Amino acid sequence: MAGRRITVKTIAAMRKRGEKIVALTAYDFHTARMEEMAGVHIILVGDSFQMAVLGEDTTLGASMDVLTAHCRAVKKGAPDALVVGDMPFGSYQPSDEIAVKNAVRFIAEAGADAVKLEGGNAAAVSRVKAIVDAGIPVMGHLGLLPQSIRSEGSYRVVRADSEQMLLEQIKALESAGAFSVVLEMIEEEVATRITEASGIATIGIGAGRYTHGQILVVNDMLGMNNDFNPKFLKKYADLHSMMKEALDSYVSDVTGGAFPGEENVFKGRGKNR
Ligand code: KIV
Repeated sequence: MAGRRITVKTIAAMRKRGEKIVALTAYDFHTARMEEMAGVHIILVGDSFQMAVLGEDTTLGASMDVLTAHCRAVKKGAPDALVVGDMPFGSYQPSDEIAVKNAVRFIAEAGADAVKLEGGNAAAVSRVKAIVDAGIPVMGHLGLLPQSIRSEGSYRVVRADSEQMLLEQIKALESAGAFSVVLEMIEEEVATRITEASGIATIGIGAGRYTHGQILVVNDMLGMNNDFNPKFLKKYADLHSMMKEALDSYVSDVTGGAFPGEENVFKGRGKNR
């Protein structure tokens, strides 16, 4: 993808041409660099960081300070991808003004290209419009909303009885100026009809095959956590086993005296490299 900078206009054009949009999360420089090299179009610095990296049970504790710092590293690693900063719980719910202030932080401090926020109710739509009016592209997020776990009680697949509401919400987000919407954990037929009705790109996670694009949490698709095996996830690697094997070897080398070896030690002048 070198040299082809992805913008929100690229995403809109891809949707129109029927080209699939590839999205992934990333939280650090090196992963972002490799994702860009692989041709990932959208990189989300998700609040899933809280669960995938910090091992928490929910995303609720994610903070602006931490996510902007990671977003800065991701943008540095992937200058041509569309990098989206995920607005953490509490960073946009209180008011339009607070939402704009925090969205500006992602752009100004972290170099993000856009921000994402969850929800399609009147308050969320108002936040999207305020941020878009400030000149910042916004990605919406409908279906399962991890930041609403306290009111919902559990993470559940969203089914046909929510279809009408989702249709109204995606239309409202589109009118507010969102350039794209994540659809999370929605029955395939429902997500397909919402995608067909949508004038902006839908990016699915657990929302079936027919959204305009797909997103996964990078740590999950690389198989870092062998205890996390939901139906929607495809593991493209088994990093858990690879890391275990490498770490076991290191422990055995150090305890058995095989590391450091002759090639790893510094000797007299001129031989230090
Ligand atoms: O935080 C995140 O990683 C997300 C994706 C699951 C879409 O919101």
